[in-house]
Amino acid sequence: MTERFTIEVEGSGLASCRPGERVLVALERAQGFGQLKNLPRRLPVGCRRGGCGICRARVLEGAYQTLPMSRAHISAEDENNGFVLACAISPLSDLTLRLEPARLPKAPSLGAAAARPCASTPAPAEAASAAGDLARPCPTAAEITASLNDNKNAAVFGAAVFLEE
Ligand code: FES
Repeated sequence: MTERFTIEVEGSGLASCRPGERVLVALERAQGFGQLKNLPRRLPVGCRRGGCGICRARVLEGAYQTLPMSRAHISAEDENNGFVLACAISPLSDLTLRLEPARLPKAPSLGAAAARPCASTPAPAEAASAAGDLARPCPTAAEITASLNDNKNAAVFGAAVFLEE
């Protein structure tokens, strides 16, 4: 008989995880089988390799081993406090964990384009006079694409958009 560990997602249900299996895989399977009934939204899944940070969680109880995790998303201090990327840990015992909001790095080039007031954005007259330069055109699709291509965190940003659906 194959040993399995129980992964309790705080307030959301239970998943069964094989030794050596990534916790995120077990959670995805459990969600597919309707075992995480109280999960308020779709499980956050991105790269599945510890890079994008979208599956951030905190282990509240239990032992686990870690695979490489991006330091951009889990600092050494975070790691010491039990924060993990669910795709980059596997259980060594039963676990209790809490899903945490991803800490996504800023996307400065896209942020500047997105925050820029543009002609198609209606504004109250007093705001328009204060802004002074609302005649600038909106960023084009090519500008946005260039921003994404220049941005090392484009995949992360994409994942954030995915979460907002
Ligand atoms: S899914 Fe990308 S870090 Fe876990």
